[in-house]
Amino acid sequence: MKKTCYVTTPIYYSSGNVHIGNSYTTIACDVYSRFHRLSGYDTFFLTGMDEHGQKNEEAAAAAGKTPQQLVDEIAATTNQLWRDMKITHDDFIRTSEERHTRIVREIFSRLLAQDDIYMGAYEGDYCVSCEAFFTKSQLGEDGSCPDCGKPTRKVKEECYFLRLSKYQDRLLEHIKANPDFIEPETRRNEVIAFVESGLEDLAVSRTSFRWGIPVRENPRHVIYVWIDALSNYLTALGYLSADDALYQKYWVNGDKVVHVIGKDILRFHAVYWPIMLMALGVPVNFKLYVHGWVLMKEGKMSKSAGNIIYPRDVMDKYGLDAMRLYLIKEMPLGNDCVFSYERFIEKYNSDLANDLGNLLNRTLVMINKYFAGRLEKPDRRYGDYDRELEETIENTARKYKESFASFRFQNGLNEVWHLINRSNKYIDETTPWVVAKDESRRDELNAILYHLYESLRVTAIMLAPVIPDTAEKIFRDFGLDTIDFNGLGYGKTASVKVTEKPEILFRRLDPEIELKSQNENTKPEITIDDFNKLDLRVGEVIDARKVENSDKLLLLKIKIGAATRQVVSGLAGAYAPADLIGKKLVVVANLKPVKIRGYLSEGMVLTAEGKGLPLEVLEVKKHNSNSRIS
Ligand code: MSP
Repeated sequence: MKKTCYVTTPIYYSSGNVHIGNSYTTIACDVYSRFHRLSGYDTFFLTGMDEHGQKNEEAAAAAGKTPQQLVDEIAATTNQLWRDMKITHDDFIRTSEERHTRIVREIFSRLLAQDDIYMGAYEGDYCVSCEAFFTKSQLGEDGSCPDCGKPTRKVKEECYFLRLSKYQDRLLEHIKANPDFIEPETRRNEVIAFVESGLEDLAVSRTSFRWGIPVRENPRHVIYVWIDALSNYLTALGYLSADDALYQKYWVNGDKVVHVIGKDILRFHAVYWPIMLMALGVPVNFKLYVHGWVLMKEGKMSKSAGNIIYPRDVMDKYGLDAMRLYLIKEMPLGNDCVFSYERFIEKYNSDLANDLGNLLNRTLVMINKYFAGRLEKPDRRYGDYDRELEETIENTARKYKESFASFRFQNGLNEVWHLINRSNKYIDETTPWVVAKDESRRDELNAILYHLYESLRVTAIMLAPVIPDTAEKIFRDFGLDTIDFNGLGYGKTASVKVTEKPEILFRRLDPEIELKSQNENTKPEITIDDFNKLDLRVGEVIDARKVENSDKLLLLKIKIGAATRQVVSGLAGAYAPADLIGKKLVVVANLKPVKIRGYLSEGMVLTAEGKGLPLEVLEVKKHNSNSRIS
């Protein structure tokens, strides 16, 4: 019988949106699942959507939809996005589905009946955005949410509580008896400290909104979204349903049960979830991999900062595999990583175009040139280089497997790139183009190219979980079909026949051109009302002179209707004063006046700028001064 592996992503809030940062969790789970399938595990990979809560209720009302309509639309586009990202999930559970709500209600009832949930009263500070209560000490100075910074609301409600305190000791024992329950260790230590500081019972129902799962015994209450959401890991497997075969197979009798989460949702998964399971009598046999965040250079990605990068933009432009590789190779387990287009282009060029792409292309070209695309497995070694490369292939495959099995993808990929670089060096050391000149060394030449072929074949297999399209292309070029971990090792091919027309997989990108196009569109979204606040007018320049002691500034007199404004503008590098006189420009007419170098500046001239081009003023030809611009 095959060993089993159950892998889950957190279910994403339908009120959020999938950006390059949070898509990491799902891509990482996909890599982990693909790796386990290739390792021979019977793997079940679950993802889904967390659809209840006040935020969606409010958003739906604002959009004139029912919450169900709203989440249906979001679930459909999100699931499609995952498919386009070649995510190989076996199920997509949504918390508004009947198969889920029915069981969550049952879970709640059971815990209530056995007095693990009891009725009390709650008074606290609640963040609607994060769907979480915070204690006074957790709040920001102005009472804001410690996670998202938005204002919190005071909420006082009659409310059900889950007895966390009752399970505190059992939880600590479990964590201490299972050193690999939470990885990496820093996160484990954090949880131990939190639990040791004492657990307060958790408020697990709300009466302030309706879009949730009503408590069966008291429908005025809806079940707290986290109790609802965490249960997905079981409801998707048919727990407590008429058919719980998946639950029995992947959970109760499963070999590996893995929840992958970002560090921000650690407490929910490492404290509340195991306690729920203990209370339900479900074995606590999962483990947690807790990863860091994908950050931007300036910090977190957020709508308000206007620095969100969407996976579709990256993959449409640079390809899915380049995006997947970047995220998986840049993120160490237990730390954050940064996404920047500078780094992305740099890594694209070095990892893909140079290292992997070149090795593949050189190898295919030489096999075609010297042997018309065909090689035979050599029957002996021709030097130390051969042995060394064979050993590197074997060692790399071993280290790669260890790293990937324990979610350390960065380490594993660094090993793979070590092999790629070793192989490129092997070409320089063995100089096949010199060997090719000597007819008596045909067998040696065959052996050199066979080693390169084998190294690349094994590389493609190891890369298959991360960059599946590229791995398949290499396999096709190599005349092979099924990618299989049994193929991880040197010398597994008896005779070789490669494609005659290799295509370049990754062309070098010109950083300057790429970065220029990425510099556009970096400001936060505004509404039409924001835009309408601008009073844009045509203004005619009637005088222009240089500002003393400044290389950049010009002092302009601009006529707008009957009035004349003075505007200080940084145009000196691009225009001689005389060139501007008589031009009709676009002016921001309602900008608050400021003093620049002692001169009052009563507006701003609009300009276009971009790398490699001079600053250019926006000119109007037909209109006269004072025309409105909109
Ligand atoms: N709905 C909850 C999960 C409930 S699971 C029972 C949730 N959803 S989320 O949409 O906010 O987050 C989904 C995943 O994305 C989480 O693992 C979260 O940690 C992760 N990330 C969110 N922003 C991220 C980055 N910038 N970088 C990496 N992962 C981040 O939490």
